[in-house]
Amino acid sequence: MFSTLRSDVRTIFENDPAARNTFEVIFTYSGLHALWAHRFAHWFYKKRLPMVARFISQVSRFFTGIEIHPGAQIGQRFFIDHGMGVVIGETCEIGDDVVIYQGVTLGGTGKEKGKRHPTIGNNVVISSGAKVLGSFTVGDYSRIGANSVVLQEVPPNCTVVGIPGRVVKRDGVRIGKLDHGNVPDPVIELCSHLQSEIDRLKEEISRNKQLEARK
Ligand SMILES: CC(C)(COP(=O)(O)OP(=O)(O)OC[C@H]1O[C@@H](n2cnc3c(N)ncnc32)[C@H](O)[C@@H]1OP(=O)(O)O)[C@@H](O)C(=O)NCCC(=O)NCCS
Repeated sequence: MFSTLRSDVRTIFENDPAARNTFEVIFTYSGLHALWAHRFAHWFYKKRLPMVARFISQVSRFFTGIEIHPGAQIGQRFFIDHGMGVVIGETCEIGDDVVIYQGVTLGGTGKEKGKRHPTIGNNVVISSGAKVLGSFTVGDYSRIGANSVVLQEVPPNCTVVGIPGRVVKRDGVRIGKLDHGNVPDPVIELCSHLQSEIDRLKEEISRNKQLEARK
């Protein structure tokens, strides 16, 4: 157990250049507090004491702003930077050496039952504000860009950005150039679709009126 705790502290030094000393890390890193509370809660969850587990998780959320469901499975050297607003669902599985930032949701779409949260591979980075929703896998060494919304499987060694998230880099090679100036706006697309439907219906009504006038 102590080796795991030591490794958790070491992980913070490896990932955060701002970390100065062990005392500071142990007392001021909410990501570390949430992780330790989760390990405790997960132990009760596995002992089939879900209420106790849930209570620990909620107390931890109150103090850290990070909500990890006690059922989530988290690997070694997990690092949550800043942390506020992080939500990790019950059936989420996280590999080793994963880094996530504030505002990340590893959640469900609300459409699935049973396993409904993502499986995150080893050495994955999930940037601030990203949402990964569904029971698919994010492959090893992949990176999810800030504020992306990922709704489908991500192969290993990829960079995914955007809403919905799409692969822009695979094995270090760019896949197409992103058109930052013309990001599709779903609301405008919907409005123009509705406008063309209205135009079509207007035409049909005036055609029917003309036919009736001729009768
Ligand atoms: C995705 C990320 C990890 C970079 O990964 P990378 O593999 O090095 O990717 P690149 O920087 O080469 O970017 C690839 C393309 O995606 C674009 N891109 C990168 N991040 C993006 C994002 N969040 N949203 C939209 N596009 C993004 C880049 O502009 C680039 O586009 P181009 O090919 O047209 O030039 C990084 O951009 C990111 O989001 N970092 C945020 C880290 C974070 O959360 N920090 C918070 C600290 S408090």
